[in-house]
Amino acid sequence: MAKLLEIIKHPNKILRKVSAEIDLKKLKSPEMVELLADMEKTMIEKDGAGLAAPQIGKNLRIIIVNNEKENLVMINPQITKKSWGRKTELEGCLSVVDEQGEIYYEKVARHKKISGIYYDRQGKKQKINASDLLARAIQHEIDHLDGILFIDRVEEQKKSNYA
Ligand code: CO
Repeated sequence: MAKLLEIIKHPNKILRKVSAEIDLKKLKSPEMVELLADMEKTMIEKDGAGLAAPQIGKNLRIIIVNNEKENLVMINPQITKKSWGRKTELEGCLSVVDEQGEIYYEKVARHKKISGIYYDRQGKKQKINASDLLARAIQHEIDHLDGILFIDRVEEQKKSNYA
């Protein structure tokens, strides 16, 4: 049975590390199968649009993105193409909460469309073209693997707009 994992909150150093690539040979190991199931359960129970492994305390390049009917488990994901056009929408993160412990939302500009590659839970290489919400969630989650939080993007935007 999959377990609910604890979500690491900002400011925790784990959220700031660059995560390590997954050795695809280890994807079938019982530990990895369990980790993926636990992450998926945690994302669903916490009602997240996505979840990255650093958020549950593991600096590994794994993200899960909520994609309507089927959740996308993405191992070693990479963005290979980004649209020039961006879209600004409210964004929040299970790891970024206010003094009351509530998730809060801020507007973030993200590439409207992206293309990417990743490995699925069977270790099969997959390609994806995503736009709007799905593209936003993938960009947000991959940022976690590089130690970047959406609040950093908000800060960057404020600087570039008012410099
Ligand atoms: Co997040």
